[in-house]
Amino acid sequence: MKTSEIRRRFLDFYAKNDHRIVPAGSLVPGNDPTLLFTNAGMNQFKDVFLGTDKRDYNRATTAQRCVRAGGKHNDLENVGYTARHHTFFEMLGNFSFGDYFKKEAIQFAWAFLTEELGLPKEKLWVTVYKDDDEAADIWINEIGVDPKRLSRLGDKDNFWMMGDTGPCGPCSEIFYDHGEDVPGGPPGSPDDDLDRYIEIWNLVFMQFDTLEDGTRVPLPKPSVDTGMGLERLAAVLQNVHSNYEIDLFQSLIKAVMGVTGCTDIENRSLRVIADHIRSTAFLIADGVIPSNEGRGYVLRRIIRRAIRHGYKLGCSDLFMYKLVDALVVEMGDAYPELAQQADHVKKVLKIEEEQFARTLDNGMSILEAGIADLNSQVIPGELVFKLYDTYGFPADLTADVAREKGLTIDQVGFDTAMAEQRAMSKSANKFKLDRNIDLGLPGQTVFLGYDTLVSTGRVIKILKDNLDVPTLMAGDNGVVILDQTSFYAESGGQAGDQGMLTANGLQIQVDDCQKLQGHHLHQVTVLEGSLNCGDEITATVKRDERENTARHHSATHLMHAALRSVLGGHVQQRGSLVTFDKLRFDFSHLEAVTPEEIREIENIVNAQVMANTEVSTDIMDVDSARESGAMALFGEKYDDKVRVLTMGQDGFSKELCGGTHVRRTGDIGLFRIVSESGIAAGIRRIEAVSGPYALATVRQQENLLNELQLSFKCSADQLAAKVHQSLAHTKDLEREIDQLKTKLASAAAGDLASQAVDISGVNVLAVRLDGVDSQSLRTTMDQMKDKLGTAVILIAAVNDGKVQLAAGVTKDLIAKIKAGDLIKEVGALMGAKGGGKPDMAMAGGGDASKIEVALSNVTTWVKQKLDA
Ligand code: ALA
Repeated sequence: MKTSEIRRRFLDFYAKNDHRIVPAGSLVPGNDPTLLFTNAGMNQFKDVFLGTDKRDYNRATTAQRCVRAGGKHNDLENVGYTARHHTFFEMLGNFSFGDYFKKEAIQFAWAFLTEELGLPKEKLWVTVYKDDDEAADIWINEIGVDPKRLSRLGDKDNFWMMGDTGPCGPCSEIFYDHGEDVPGGPPGSPDDDLDRYIEIWNLVFMQFDTLEDGTRVPLPKPSVDTGMGLERLAAVLQNVHSNYEIDLFQSLIKAVMGVTGCTDIENRSLRVIADHIRSTAFLIADGVIPSNEGRGYVLRRIIRRAIRHGYKLGCSDLFMYKLVDALVVEMGDAYPELAQQADHVKKVLKIEEEQFARTLDNGMSILEAGIADLNSQVIPGELVFKLYDTYGFPADLTADVAREKGLTIDQVGFDTAMAEQRAMSKSANKFKLDRNIDLGLPGQTVFLGYDTLVSTGRVIKILKDNLDVPTLMAGDNGVVILDQTSFYAESGGQAGDQGMLTANGLQIQVDDCQKLQGHHLHQVTVLEGSLNCGDEITATVKRDERENTARHHSATHLMHAALRSVLGGHVQQRGSLVTFDKLRFDFSHLEAVTPEEIREIENIVNAQVMANTEVSTDIMDVDSARESGAMALFGEKYDDKVRVLTMGQDGFSKELCGGTHVRRTGDIGLFRIVSESGIAAGIRRIEAVSGPYALATVRQQENLLNELQLSFKCSADQLAAKVHQSLAHTKDLEREIDQLKTKLASAAAGDLASQAVDISGVNVLAVRLDGVDSQSLRTTMDQMKDKLGTAVILIAAVNDGKVQLAAGVTKDLIAKIKAGDLIKEVGALMGAKGGGKPDMAMAGGGDASKIEVALSNVTTWVKQKLDA
């Protein structure tokens, strides 16, 4: 039975039993910061189990794509080493939301396996939680499982938790016995982690919610969550032992052989790559982009691990992106979102492969050299860190190489090196507050700054060097917390406010305001007076800064919407910084934004500015906000009640945001993009300005233009023509100068030649030429030889105060006279040193005042030589 058929049969079976077939959720869990990736079918139903979300069905079934890499359930390191671990797999599940419980869950599962699929009952083993008598009773007395084939296990095996918090409960698992040929014992026996008895299905009896402090509270209604590994079931039904031998993986492995050129189908690296292309392609299709943190970093680690295995197979070409088509053939029908995103997935993979390929070779040689030098079984943490830092080798990639060679890595050493680097970059941070301190304050600061810039408040805490103090004196720096304030604390990318805290005789400057544990921390310098806890003071935000910050923040929202309309819906915010003097916005997009697109985005934003519509703020619950189409950030934790900012014509932009904004879009004044660049693979950055800062960029360009008009003595519209004209003119002049130089040189050569004297049929020329460099000196020498025929020549040149001598003898004379001898003779007279060949020699240095004497000796020396 093909994998695709099993998937369909499962869903149909449960649909027949009154379950709603629900589409799979994204691998990026919406609005659940406790979860890195979707790791189980129940994730999309978490809130339904908790009772905070209701659906119009209470039985559901899904085929859910899952990734278990990074996070609580992490299988990355096992992939390639076992027959049954994957970073990506499909979980078939059925769910009851307060409808049926243990009995029906067990009956359905048993019926599906033994009746629908016809698996022999004696091949199946079951486990229950150690004190779950109810489940044990159902298995033995109602289903008829032989008590010898039932084990009771503890928390580790039979209590399932989604994460450190969230829904959980005791569970019951079903195992398949792959037969005596495979080593391993039944569940609960010492060698149960070998491959004979493989868990295929987990039935979780959801009963509790684990809170952050670890306590468990009962769920509103007992529920059921089950999960069966599709690949493991396929292995059972296709009579193979390893998941990698099922139809789907065999097709992928053949595709990997095709692109890497590997012909040994048993090679473990093929399996690693076949596994990793599934997780990476689906993650990218679900919106993750490789990066250096969070989800993006896990994705990067998986891609790099796959590339390294390709490299092991001897494949030096890019290959991952070429596997996408084969994957779409296998899985595109069940997951249309993959087929739709195929081109995007290829692009992202290719960029990441290119980037890593540049350092892989170097990194591998460093690692291999390091391993060769080892005198223990452990690769030192510093080396692991260096590879990470310089060559982009994630620690688990180095660990993978190590494992192949029977080595391990010093994880603690790596973590230490990493922590040191973090501490270093942190200490460079402007705000010297230790964010780990516990303020010990209940509640939160009341923020009045949406409505006013001036407020009064009481000092409830003062910190100096991260310690509580009762007082700050004139000259002190510290942190002040008020019960209420008009100062905005940095968040959502918007910088904290600056301004003053004042009271009678008290002047305190606020340089920044940050948020910690719900409180606004004013970073201050006391200018005058002293401040005590309990004081009542006036807080005044700098108006210009705040207004300009609001302009940039609102402009950011309009630009975000404009980016999506011009570049496409794939644009997602990746980072944002809003200050009084500019905005900076990072977003996912694969190519540079073209100048035409930039213009269009500017135009759209400015049109919204000119429409001058009112900016509205609504407080609503998260779900209504989402339903209204408001944009929210991936993985961001929002309160139950959120603030939705709507601006522009017909609700052009709608975003969840706690920042401060303009009243009407017209307040932004003017919007200009000043730069666009790439900051990482698939991430672009735009910087832009608005209001007076946009005007300032216009002014700057205007000033430049004025200056140029003055210089060129023309009006602005003639300027371009003038500049072209002027450049052309300069070119003509340069050409003319070159011609003149050549003419001059040959005239000078003629002059020089006429100074030669005839000594017994030899033209002897000894002259001084000033301001000539050594190149021209050689050229002149050659010209003179040509002109004079049989000749001995000495030229002394003084250039920038330095003396250079050149001696030349025509070929027909070198038997008798050598240039090297002449240069020595003349050089000796004035203290210059050098040498050369018989026909050409040079010397440098020497006393310029002796040149004339030296030159006058040349004819005599030549005469002697000729006579000798
Ligand atoms: N949520 C359960 C699991 O993942 C079914 O094993």
